[in-house]
Amino acid sequence: MHLPRLVFLFGSFAFCLTVSLRAEDVLIEDFESGTYSGWDITGDAFGDAPAEGALDNQMAVSGYRGKRLINSYYKGDTSTGTATSSPFRIERPHIALLIGGGRDEQRLAVQLLVDDKIVRVATGDESEDLEWSSWDVKDLLGKQARVRIIDEATGGWGHINVDHIMQTDEPPARFDLEHKLAEYRLSANYLNEPLRPQYHFSPEINWMNDPNGLVYHDGEYHLFYQYNPAGNSWGHMSWGHAVSKDLSHWEHLPLAIPEADGIMAFSGCCVVDHNNTSGFGVNNQPPMVAIYTGHGHGKQVQNIAYSNDRGRTWTQYANNPVLDRNNPDFRDPKVFWHDPTNRWVMVVTLAAEKVLLFYSSSDLKNWTELSRFGPAGQRHKPNWECPDLFQLPVEGEPGKKLWALEADMGSGSIAGGSGGEYFVGEFDGTKFSAYQSAQWVDFGRDFYAPVSWSDIPDSDGRRMWLGWFNNWETCLVPTSPWRSSMSIPRVLSLRKVTFNNEEPAHYVLIQQPVEELKQLRFSTRTLDTNDVRWPPVALIEAGDLQDMTFELEATLTPGNARSLGIRIRTGEEEFTEVGYDQNQLGVYVDRRKSGNVDFHSAFPGRHDAPARLVDGSLKLRIFVDRSTIEVFVNDGEAVISDRVFPSSQQPLIEAFCGDETAKITNVQLHQLKSVWRE
Ligand code: FRU
Repeated sequence: MHLPRLVFLFGSFAFCLTVSLRAEDVLIEDFESGTYSGWDITGDAFGDAPAEGALDNQMAVSGYRGKRLINSYYKGDTSTGTATSSPFRIERPHIALLIGGGRDEQRLAVQLLVDDKIVRVATGDESEDLEWSSWDVKDLLGKQARVRIIDEATGGWGHINVDHIMQTDEPPARFDLEHKLAEYRLSANYLNEPLRPQYHFSPEINWMNDPNGLVYHDGEYHLFYQYNPAGNSWGHMSWGHAVSKDLSHWEHLPLAIPEADGIMAFSGCCVVDHNNTSGFGVNNQPPMVAIYTGHGHGKQVQNIAYSNDRGRTWTQYANNPVLDRNNPDFRDPKVFWHDPTNRWVMVVTLAAEKVLLFYSSSDLKNWTELSRFGPAGQRHKPNWECPDLFQLPVEGEPGKKLWALEADMGSGSIAGGSGGEYFVGEFDGTKFSAYQSAQWVDFGRDFYAPVSWSDIPDSDGRRMWLGWFNNWETCLVPTSPWRSSMSIPRVLSLRKVTFNNEEPAHYVLIQQPVEELKQLRFSTRTLDTNDVRWPPVALIEAGDLQDMTFELEATLTPGNARSLGIRIRTGEEEFTEVGYDQNQLGVYVDRRKSGNVDFHSAFPGRHDAPARLVDGSLKLRIFVDRSTIEVFVNDGEAVISDRVFPSSQQPLIEAFCGDETAKITNVQLHQLKSVWRE
């Protein structure tokens, strides 16, 4: 039977209509009956019935259709078994199925059996996110066949997930991003899952890491980002895309730069080529040019692409790559226009050597090496990635500007795992010289690969960045169908500070939340703190706060107390604590009891930042957004950014003071609106 097929994909921003003639799909099994009727099951890996999503101790499983799938994680990875379907007649040219789990053709696979012989095999890709896989079976049309799912693997990734086995004229594309997005956009929980940040950017579905190509153009702040169109863990890196007019509300746009021919689009930047030096512009309008790393075939090279429609569509430069050192660890270019020398400058990493290279160009296509910086900073820690270089104003010294150079290390940073460090110094157009030693960018565990917006108009003049709100070590956070968030955008400057009287004053990177976030405040209250002592005292009534989306301001005066601070309680024994510790002379975030901390052994912990008392007190601005917490100390002298995964979104705010000489004052609670549901 031939049926016209109409598919409407309604999304906030995508609309597509396809019409084609093809025979209806023939379903072999979707496991929705909730039983194994018609299947022959052996061993214990498949349990007594198809699973409803993830099983005990399994990471989130996504990408299956409906409520159920077959999942061989019953009793964990060590269990084994087989599941074999009843015979069916092959009557379409393709058999397609959704598959996830481990990758082992011999021991962990879906097999097509004809005359009891294995004629086709499919495996997962070490991901809990199911993807389409299909077999061309034209040569087998008319034959009787069975599907057999085997799990004889007992080590890590020793399980398989399968769903929606069907016969079809047209196998679905492996990634099927449009279909998944269309389904997700209709879901009741759209951008509103319990752990979904409400005023921090996150992708609708799937995995995200570094921010890329931040640029302001034609009234829009662009945010591109490392994105996996195929699933909810790292892979197939491409550039996702969103825009904002106010740095608070974000519009999700279609994929900008896809992985192509086995070459992934790794991190990089975007510039507006105002003088059309590249020649890519049309109609006297400046093109946007993306400069990014192509990763594949054993090396990393720098590629460029351009857009003449405000970043909506991109064309690869025909003579890519523009830089090739035949090096497997050469990545993450950041480019800016250097006025005094009238040319483009690029900073890019020789990641494994912990070296930054500087290049110049007159047209973004031909690059000349200028100089190198490093290894430096935490020398014994591996690698540098995602550098940025820019000039910043120095507070209290009108007219003075210094350069800051930032780079990120994949592991070994201050709070453990990945994190960034920066140098303050001078850049003369050719070479960077550091004035002082490296300092940490953020003292939490979850602020990585920040990059700053380019092309912010002079009339605004701010240097702003945001970072990936995650840590490579604990990146498989318990959220689905998306993973990760960005930090809030922060304005940067430098301030001369000494954290304790022993050390000389030095320049510190100041990070402050962008002013635009204040427009999200919809209620502000001053909380009464007169009776705060030990044990902790509630500052609001239970049930007062319906959502964990707020900003809390407070002044802490420690007196002689060993510690004092605020607890965001989300359950009987569950809270995240932000406090000042007199012994450490610093502010901390303690997330050891913050909720779900068991998904990775490195996740629970306490993270300390240096903090000074000014006239005996220090100021905190604490931003909480369902599964994120960012603490800005003393107007941005230190920041602690941490993810938390509480079991409830109805927090109780408490405060405590170690003794009667300490006090907490000026506590203001601002509830913040959701940017997804206004
Ligand atoms: C940093 C990083 C970059 C790379 C990208 C790949 O988080 O490793 O160096 O370009 O992620 O997704």
